[in-house]
Amino acid sequence: MAVRRLAAEQPESFTFTEENLAWAHKLIDRYPEGRQASAVIPLLWRAQEQNDGWVSEPAIRYIAELLDMPKIRVLEVATFYTMFQLQPVGKKAHIQVCGTTPCQLRGSEDLIKICKSRIAKHMYEISEDGAFSWEEVECLGACVNAPMVQIFKDTYEDLTPDSFNQLLDDISEGKEVTPGPQNGRRFSMGEGGQTSLTELDDDTTGDLPVPHVVDGSEKASHHFAGASINTGGKDYDGVPTPAEDAVARVVAAHAAKTGKPEAAPAKPAAAPANTNEKVQKAAAKSDEPKPVSKAKPKSAAPAGERAPETLKSARDGKPDDLKKLKGVGPKLEATLHELGFFHFDQIASWGPQEIAWVDSRLKFKGRIERDGWIKQAKLLASGQDTEFSKRVEAGDVASSKSED
Ligand code: FES
Repeated sequence: MAVRRLAAEQPESFTFTEENLAWAHKLIDRYPEGRQASAVIPLLWRAQEQNDGWVSEPAIRYIAELLDMPKIRVLEVATFYTMFQLQPVGKKAHIQVCGTTPCQLRGSEDLIKICKSRIAKHMYEISEDGAFSWEEVECLGACVNAPMVQIFKDTYEDLTPDSFNQLLDDISEGKEVTPGPQNGRRFSMGEGGQTSLTELDDDTTGDLPVPHVVDGSEKASHHFAGASINTGGKDYDGVPTPAEDAVARVVAAHAAKTGKPEAAPAKPAAAPANTNEKVQKAAAKSDEPKPVSKAKPKSAAPAGERAPETLKSARDGKPDDLKKLKGVGPKLEATLHELGFFHFDQIASWGPQEIAWVDSRLKFKGRIERDGWIKQAKLLASGQDTEFSKRVEAGDVASSKSED
């Protein structure tokens, strides 16, 4: 990767337009006190948009002052990310060619040759007509569709010398171009077509990129994707981000097709009063604690763990005194109840995978084995006592002691 330096020639100064300054203040206010520096990337991006596609040294200084940051910190960010251009770029398009191994193996060197012959011999030089510039960058994350280039916010993938030349022609002539794979492939699907989930309709698998004219003006019009953080899916202008927009379109398309509402209510509507005896009985039954059920972990148990059987509540409302297990005090007993364990026989039935499952949910990892809960639980479940349980019954053990 080339060394990223600031351009030798710099403008005298930089200030945000009134509109951009208002936007910047709104953005900065979203961050907690003392964390305003987190706004540095969106601000640099907006400065780049305002400054014909590149970030100048005065802009870096201006943003550092705006965020009360050392200038060197803003400079570090601007020079680290290749999304920021540090010198003037082509008016219509700045082509970033990925030259990392997968793209190189699939022909990126041919694309670079085309850039050299059609745009300018060296990176960052602007073509004679002022419309194009280019640079080689590291992996842009579309390796599966290598080779590829990025132009402003969009990527153009699965390129060949012919399709790349065509792309440059179209941009030059102001024709519409469509981002994404240029060989007819859909997203990153296998080139031979869909091989799985074939029952899904096309419109449930996502929207295709929209064709548009690349003329440089889009630099100032597209939304900065990173700006959607914590804004409820809206960018800082209150406009849905492209991702939000795509989701909304897919949902709407699905609704139009199925006739179902676009979005399910957050909670099901309250059930009408039960006037039907059958319904009432069913409702009453569903309220009863189920005798024994397989615990449903919120997510699949990791390898080596298995959810033990749990209860919603103690059988007959009478839990065993789990504090009779050495190592279990009131706090752990409460935790075990929350997890659905009330009786010695439940604990006695745990094998290594169930122990691992419970262990990962207790604050005291390893305690089950160390204190021999299973052996104790088996004895207690069979009606026998242990030395420790005798002491608990006799009141010889302070409750907190058992959790030492
Ligand atoms: S190697 Fe080119 S996009 Fe990853």
